[in-house]
Amino acid sequence: MDTLVRGGTVVLESGRLRADVLIRGSRVAGLLDPRESAGFKARVIDASDLLVLPGGVDVHTHIGIQFGEFTTRDDFGSATRAAAFGGTTSLLEFAFPEPGEDPAEAVERRISQASGQAVIDFGFHAAIAQHADADALAGIERAAKLGAPTVKVFTAYRGIMMLELGDVMAVMREAAKARSLVMVHAETEAIVERAVGELRERGIADARHHPQARPGIAELDAARSVLRLAAETGAAVYLVHVTLPEVAEEIARARADGVRAYGETCPHYLFLDESVYSTPHGERFVCSPPMRSATAARGLWRTLGTSLTGVHSDHCCFDSEQKKVYASDSTRIPPGLPGVETRMPLLISAALSGRLSMPDVVRLCSSEPARLFGMQGKGSLLPGMDADLIVVDPRARHRLDGLHMATDYTPFAGMEIRGRIETVVAGGEVLVSAGRWVGEKPAGRYIRRRRLEA
Ligand code: URP
Ligand code: ZN
Ligand code: ZN
Repeated sequence: MDTLVRGGTVVLESGRLRADVLIRGSRVAGLLDPRESAGFKARVIDASDLLVLPGGVDVHTHIGIQFGEFTTRDDFGSATRAAAFGGTTSLLEFAFPEPGEDPAEAVERRISQASGQAVIDFGFHAAIAQHADADALAGIERAAKLGAPTVKVFTAYRGIMMLELGDVMAVMREAAKARSLVMVHAETEAIVERAVGELRERGIADARHHPQARPGIAELDAARSVLRLAAETGAAVYLVHVTLPEVAEEIARARADGVRAYGETCPHYLFLDESVYSTPHGERFVCSPPMRSATAARGLWRTLGTSLTGVHSDHCCFDSEQKKVYASDSTRIPPGLPGVETRMPLLISAALSGRLSMPDVVRLCSSEPARLFGMQGKGSLLPGMDADLIVVDPRARHRLDGLHMATDYTPFAGMEIRGRIETVVAGGEVLVSAGRWVGEKPAGRYIRRRRLEA
């Protein structure tokens, strides 16, 4: 039977309209004038006085990964369920090769891990860590053939993930040939190492001093180098988790010079600042790069929709026990914050408070990432698109508690949130109704993505 989401205001990146959403199977069959749909025989989702948005697309998560001696607490089942509760109906995760694997083999392994567990659609970015040898480089094209036309590299985390700039350049050359997007974690490790050394000498390398351990100049320096390499190689480049307006400006400048340069930020860099490291559990906020000054956070808001085209979670689900093991040495605290469930509520709340518009939220969190990352069918509710949508009560107010991520804390505890996600539909199936889980067996499908336009 068809489903009709009736009585709501549909929000698209281009604006809002009063329309009923007709769902047939897993697709949107039409946006109907409410007067037309009155006599329709369909299962009805009542959206009277509510907002109907395309489901969120989160292109930056880390699920079930090991980082040094720590493994995140979640798996594809728990993380995608939490994502759905938070209004995200598709996500892109990383496939880090294990020893002996090439990037494409890692993508295949991760597809089988997620299949049968994920409750929302998922895709993968290929990744190259430590050495970009010939096999790894050839894996970029093979991964693109599998529908993973993105490759992640790190200029930080020596001995775990880091690639030297020469290797980053080699990755860019191959990626340009394969029409794959190069995603970069940009921080200059040598600057971080120097800063950490100095803090250690003074005996203050704890969580409280984490921002000094990874200073802004490390991010700015790496961003500049990487953008120059993109200009040189013709690669398209995407800077993940940008924390500084100056870095966003570098991206905009590179784009104005003809480089295909893009960037995202994350909710924690918009809603929090470095003062969190002075709170009693500063270690719970340790991530790379760190939160910056309140001025930088305010500046970042102004880059949204222009130099930065996405807001993604960088979800990395450690719990408070794991975070506190090395609280006195910020370099050993597992980096990353849980956030796949809180990204959309935070952005929707910001829109309801007037910080940006609701179409901006759709553009930043759904439409633009779906387009850039080649996710056909995602990011819009126009007829023919996947029936991935959320119904939001704009009048509700609540605190971020009772979350579903596999951890015991959120960095946004205590924050008042405007708007509540009442219903979540993914692939035409209702997963959340009146805020409760009603999904049946995991039906998330692998998203085979398109390469970049030539
Ligand atoms: O601290 C972070 N961001 N952890 C996740 C891994 C990464 O660098 O994106
Ligand atoms: Zn990173
Ligand atoms: Zn990340």
